Amino acid sequence: MKRIAFFDTKPYDKIWFDEYNNGRYEIVYFEGKLNRYTVGITAGFDGVCGFVNDDINADVINSLVENNVKILAMRSAGYSNVDLKAAKGRLPVVRVPAYSPYAVAEHAMGLLLTVNRKLARAVTRTRDFNFSIAGLMGVDLHGKTVGVIGTGTIGRVFIDICKGFGMKVIAYDPYPAQNIGVDYVPLTELFKQSDVISLHCPLTESSYHLLNKEAFELMKKGVFIVNTSRGALVDSDALLDALKSEKVRGAALDVYEEETDLFFEDMSGTIIKDDTLSLLISNPNVVLTSHQAFLTEEALEAIAKITLKNFDDFFAGNPLENEVKR
Ligand code: NAI
Repeated sequence: MKRIAFFDTKPYDKIWFDEYNNGRYEIVYFEGKLNRYTVGITAGFDGVCGFVNDDINADVINSLVENNVKILAMRSAGYSNVDLKAAKGRLPVVRVPAYSPYAVAEHAMGLLLTVNRKLARAVTRTRDFNFSIAGLMGVDLHGKTVGVIGTGTIGRVFIDICKGFGMKVIAYDPYPAQNIGVDYVPLTELFKQSDVISLHCPLTESSYHLLNKEAFELMKKGVFIVNTSRGALVDSDALLDALKSEKVRGAALDVYEEETDLFFEDMSGTIIKDDTLSLLISNPNVVLTSHQAFLTEEALEAIAKITLKNFDDFFAGNPLENEVKR
């Protein structure tokens, strides 16, 4: 029986993997993340299953190859944490390109509503029997312009949701889609025209800090920023400055550029050393969730099914439909 080492396991991962595995692989669940300290335990495994905050750099890839691991299956859509250059021709990397775009797009809209209508503060108040609504004013989203950066699977679902809200949608994507009923504009135009900017593109060398000081300078005063994609698409210090100057009215974040050692863990008894993160979290115009946009039953079920099929295809010698090519 083939053996799979499963990293960064949380209880919700096991539910569907155990159900759909149905005994065909020996899956060993490790709670730790895959990185240079933990890669040693992969000796004797045929496959490895990784997640978004594993640090799968060139050294880790080399060790996986030395340990005779034959395939790396990411149970995520994003793969910016994998050194594909090091893996090329030595270790096939597969992923789950789409599992539930609705999970992420709906969370993005949920975050936008939360920051705009100050829902987290409102609920905290009523829990305390404080029924004052002073300071909770938002804006109508109806009639506002939303700029969607990245019109792939998730971006398009988010566009449909925004249209349902009566928003005007403009978009930027280096590979525009046909017939999706949006006006594509250059990125600088999107920055200038949008009341809300939502990121749905991957993190690559060219998209690193796409929202930086210069980008914020171009934006309308009072813009909302939504990031459910990858933290490093946004320069967090530039975002803090833009919040301070009120250029940005609200930031709705599910990801953070230095999230790796923090997100998915209970750090409530720990002093957080990351001052930028502390300032973001304590800013009243920021809502931040811990990379949970994907976390719906439908998404987790699909992730398990597709990841196991990726392993099946590989071990059966079939073409790898979901292989990540550099
Ligand atoms: P996708 O691959 O279907 O679409 C990405 C789109 O971005 C493509 O149309 C591509 O042409 C475009 N793009 C590439 N580079 C760009 C750039 N520099 N500027 C603008 N557009 C660019 O990906 P999908 O499934 O829609 O996912 C989008 C992102 O969402 C992923 O890359 C991932 O980082 C993130 N994600 C976050 C999750 C969460 O739980 N927070 C869960 C799943 C995905």
